[in-house]
Parts: sequence; C-alpha cells; structure tokens
Amino acid sequence: MSASDQNALKRLAAIYAVQFIKPGMTVGLGTGSTAVHAVHEIARLHTAGQLPNIQAFATSSEIARIAASVGLPLINAEGPQTIDVTIDGADEVDPQLNLIKGGGGALLHEKIVAQATQREIIVVDASKMSSCLGTLHQLPVEVIPFGRGGQRTFLETLGGKPILRVGAGGIPFVTDEGNYIYDCAFGPIRDVEELAAELRSRSGIVENGLFLGMTHDLIIGTVNGIRHLQRNPITGGITEISVEV
Ligand code: 5RP
Repeated sequence: MSASDQNALKRLAAIYAVQFIKPGMTVGLGTGSTAVHAVHEIARLHTAGQLPNIQAFATSSEIARIAASVGLPLINAEGPQTIDVTIDGADEVDPQLNLIKGGGGALLHEKIVAQATQREIIVVDASKMSSCLGTLHQLPVEVIPFGRGGQRTFLETLGGKPILRVGAGGIPFVTDEGNYIYDCAFGPIRDVEELAAELRSRSGIVENGLFLGMTHDLIIGTVNGIRHLQRNPITGGITEISVEV
C-alpha cells in the first residue's frame, strides 16, 4: 500500500472518532500523523460553531503548536483534572487493545493524558494490528539522562536490544521533558504485564510505551471502511460495533 493510501485510512479512522467529541468537552489531543487528522477535524467543527466551548490538552509541544495554529483553545501544562475524550494513535495494537506507543516520542505525556481520560479512543490504520505486541514495533523506553548507560544494560537483561533514539543532525532525540528514548526490539512480548512491571520498578526509567488496559475504543481504518472495537473496562471483553460503510 502506498503512503498516501495508508494516510487516507489514518484520516478515515480519525475523522470517524471525532463524532464522539461533544460541545463543552475537555479533549485530549494525541501525537502523530493519525491523531493530527483528528486535530484538524476538531478545529474545523469548532470554527464552524459545531463544537463550542471545548478545551484541548495536547500530548506534545508539536501538537500544541499545530492546535494553536488552527485556533483550538488550549489548556496550559498544569492540565485539567479530568479529560472527557482523548483521540490518539498507536504503533501496534493487540487483540486485547493493548498498545505500543511512543513512535513520536510523546509516550510520557500520552500516558499521563490517557490516565486522566474517561474515554480513550485509539485511531489506527489496519497495518498496526498484531497478534502479539513487540512483533511489529520496538518498545520505546524513556530514561532520564543521568545514568542512562546503566539503563541500556538493564534493558538488555530483560531481553531487549536498546538503541538510543537519534534525532535530526544525528544528535540524541530529546523528549518534551528533556529525557532520552531507547527503542528496544524485544520480539513478541509474551507477558506484557510482567515486562511493564519490571520497567516501572527501575529508577531512571520514567516511562515505557506499553499502554495496557487503557483503550476504551479502537477505530481501525481499513480498505473496506471502519472497524470500531470497544473494550469493557471492567471485564476486558471486546465488542465490535457495526459501522455502515
Ligand atoms: C507518538 C505516538 C503515536 O501515536 C504513534 O507513534 C503513531 O503514530 P502515527 O499515527 O504517525 O502512525 O505514540 O508518541
């Protein structure tokens, strides 16, 4: 599939998700090429008077800049106490709607926003679907600069192959919080809860890209139209909502 066809599927999913945002809501804005389609659609409806009194909270400085440029009212870094709906992307999605995120480097802010959100809507094209996380994408792990060499060794002991993320000009990529990212190839991760717990327990690792049990809705743009899956937050059961195409 060409990049422009894939982008069309990302846009399809993002535009569909925006219908769940209502006037007066506090909205989380995800980061990445899929989530940015939602930002433009929210701004279009807001400008047209169809989404009055909304406030947006951006998951990255990049998305805050884009949202401001299209006239969305933004909440400052202190953030809201709760967020009604967030629309965000993902790098890999498993059948339980667990995710790998952080390809855009915004995993820490994205997880903070997801945890404050009542309805976390993930928008992807069909290429992101996977039977086991780690198969398609490396796991981003955000570390503070101090002692990062030791984190590399720690990640290796967990079975990962950490590579320090490099940005423009060949210098290390720096997150919005001034940290570094190790992209770790793990291969298929058989026990995502166990790996997440190991990573959480390590000082100096501030966040990892495993988003477990946080997705309420998954919207998939496919060549046949939209698939909409919903996860019951209590039972973890997944239902598919039929969508007219
Ligand atoms: C940023 C993310 C993105 O949501 C993820 O990388 C997907 O990006 P894209 O929509 O461009 O494929 O987690 O940190």
